[in-house]
Amino acid sequence: MKIREFKDKDIPQISKLYFNTVRKINSKDYSREHVETWSPEIYDDSLWSRRFDNYTVLVAEDADMILGFCELQYPGHIDCFYVHYQWQRKGVGTQLLNSVESVAEKNGFKRLFADVSITARPFFSKRGFETVSEINKKYRELTFKLYFMEKYLIA
Ligand SMILES: CC(C)(COP(=O)(O)OP(=O)(O)OC[C@H]1O[C@@H](n2cnc3c(N)ncnc32)[C@H](O)[C@@H]1OP(=O)(O)O)[C@@H](O)C(=O)NCCC(=O)NCCS
Repeated sequence: MKIREFKDKDIPQISKLYFNTVRKINSKDYSREHVETWSPEIYDDSLWSRRFDNYTVLVAEDADMILGFCELQYPGHIDCFYVHYQWQRKGVGTQLLNSVESVAEKNGFKRLFADVSITARPFFSKRGFETVSEINKKYRELTFKLYFMEKYLIA
């Protein structure tokens, strides 16, 4: 497995990965209504492209298959962070986060922070993130329970 910067050609795989991970993994912690709102059936790939303009996007890849991806943004904001549903608990997230931390340090970011799902909280805790607060985030008429988590990077 290698970690590299995202390319436009990755978008169809990323889009599918996101959809399947939310539907098959996050569905253990969120209702069907939440999951269907979070990952709509129809999602134009060009939206990913426009979205990624605002982030450094890293992908984990093995033999042309995308196993995970994550978004990092100044001044240390981690946004999307998803691993393929068939590759959970195999160290993909750890490798992605190691790379995110390296990129953040190179950019002089002092802290990483994210609104973390119930599902991902144990992973971020294991990686040294502290829970600052519980969040009830409104999205399309629904309220999503998340955790604001942060980790200070050692200079
Ligand atoms: C969170 C996520 C990215 C972690 O990726 P991953 O590749 O499965 O993580 P790793 O295999 O590197 O896990 C590293 C360690 O984190 C902890 N961990 C990860 N997932 C865990 C879980 N569901 N429950 C408890 N601990 C967990 C474990 O200590 C694990 O080590 P171990 O497997 O040796 O016990 C992945 O589960 C995911 O895609 N979740 C759904 C999407 C999501 O909610 N993304 C975040 C949006 S904020």
